[in-house]
Amino acid sequence: METNIIPQHIAVIMDGNGRWARRRGLPRLEGHRRGYKALKNFVIDAAELNVKVVTAYAFSSENWRRPEAEVSGLMQLIRFAAKAELEYMKKEGVKIITSGRFNELPQALQDQFNEDYEATKHNDRITLNIAVNYGGRNEIIDAVKQAARLAAEGKLAPEDIDEKCLSGFMYHPELPDPDLLIRTAGEMRVSNFLMWETAYSELFVTDTLWPDFCMDDLRAAIDSFQNRTRKFGEVVDEDLK
Ligand code: FPP
Repeated sequence: METNIIPQHIAVIMDGNGRWARRRGLPRLEGHRRGYKALKNFVIDAAELNVKVVTAYAFSSENWRRPEAEVSGLMQLIRFAAKAELEYMKKEGVKIITSGRFNELPQALQDQFNEDYEATKHNDRITLNIAVNYGGRNEIIDAVKQAARLAAEGKLAPEDIDEKCLSGFMYHPELPDPDLLIRTAGEMRVSNFLMWETAYSELFVTDTLWPDFCMDDLRAAIDSFQNRTRKFGEVVDEDLK
């Protein structure tokens, strides 16, 4: 069934930066640099199409295992981008937030993200949620710890811990769950991204490498989304025919 529903929240695994660079004989960091430009365009393209939230996987809890030069290069690049694009994002109506274990990030990056948030918190055209030092299992662990703490203090009865309660302890309970999860560079994995929130997300995998991802790819992803029937575990009319 084709609809014209625009996904309100798109999550994206920006894969293929390294391959993009290798194919051109460039250093991997050049791929990440082009990846940052692709993300900037992606957010504005998404806003243009009326998407309200983009969550982008910029650095996973597992990415610390990469060579030290790549880790520090990525941290510097993310900090540079968070500073260099602030005025532009502010002007474009983008609200910037982050997901992940924030306190473990380099202090200068924490400071920059705090500045970005303060400067953009009243924007409401689109929210850019940057997942950095993010792990889906860590997010669930952090939520369970909060619930356990409250239970130990007698402020939460274990019987009252249900889906709604735990959802409230996730990093951004105010955001709708992603309707669509896009992964580039052809990999068919979820890679510990938004394990709780993507329970019913539609998946779209494209062979396009992230630095090459453009408006046509975003339209193709949304087109594909609009041709799915979302059932949320139920039986829909079409199944009964
Ligand atoms: C995966 O490609 C990509 C990453 C681990 C980093 C994504 C980061 C950016 C796009 C930087 C910009 C982010 C912000 C918020 C400014 P890969 O390196 O695993 O690619 P490969 O599988 O081809 O080697």
